[in-house]
Amino acid sequence: MNPRSKLVLQQKNANLDCVEELAAIEKEAHFSPWAKISFIEALQANDTVKKFILDNEVVGYFVAKIVLDQCELLNLTVKKSMQSKGIGTLILLQLKELCMALNIKYIFLEVRRSNATAIKLYEQNGFNETGIRKNYYKTVTGMEDAILMGLSL
Ligand SMILES: CC(C)(COP(=O)(O)OP(=O)(O)OC[C@H]1O[C@@H](n2cnc3c(N)ncnc32)[C@H](O)[C@@H]1OP(=O)(O)O)[C@@H](O)C(=O)NCCC(=O)NCCS
Repeated sequence: MNPRSKLVLQQKNANLDCVEELAAIEKEAHFSPWAKISFIEALQANDTVKKFILDNEVVGYFVAKIVLDQCELLNLTVKKSMQSKGIGTLILLQLKELCMALNIKYIFLEVRRSNATAIKLYEQNGFNETGIRKNYYKTVTGMEDAILMGLSL
C-alpha cells in the first residue's frame, strides 16, 4: 500500500487568526512569498482559504477565488518540512472535491515555468497547460514565464 494513502488531513476554514501562521509557512516555502496582507485581503475578499492539519500541526493550505462556476487557485502551499510526502496531492484532491460539491466546472491557475514539482503535481491531477504568459514572474536573474493550467470537472 502506498504509505501516502495513510495520511489523514483535517481540513478547516482559515480566518484572520491564522494569518500569522500561514504567512510563516509561506515565507519558508516560496521564492516570492505572499505577505501577511495578501492573506488578509484574500479573507476580506471572501476567497476560500482552507488550512490542513496533520497531528495538530498546520501542514498546508490553499487560497481559491470562486466566481460563478469557475475556481482560480491562487495559492497552494505545503510546509517546507512536510513536502514530498503526498500532502500537496491530498490538498489538491480536497480542492477538487469541494469544487465538485459546489458544481464548479473549471479550475485554473498559473505557475512558474521553473516550478517543476508543482507542474508535475497539477499534471498528475488532470490539469493541462492552456497558455503562457511570457516573462511574467521575477527571478533572481531576470524574468520567467507563467504557465497557465486548467482542469475541467
Ligand atoms: C508544489 C507543492 C504544493 C507540492 O506539494 P507536495 O506535498 O510536496 O507534493 P506531493 O508530495 O503530493 O507530490 C506530488 C508530486 O510532485 C512531484 N514532487 C514532489 N516532490 C518532489 C521533489 N522533491 N522533486 C521532484 N518532484 C517532486 C512528484 O511528481 C510527486 O508525485 P509522485 O511522488 O507521485 O511522483 C509543494 O512542493 C509546495 O508547497 N511548494 C512551494 C509552493 C509552491 O510552489 N506552490 C505551487 C505554486 S503554483
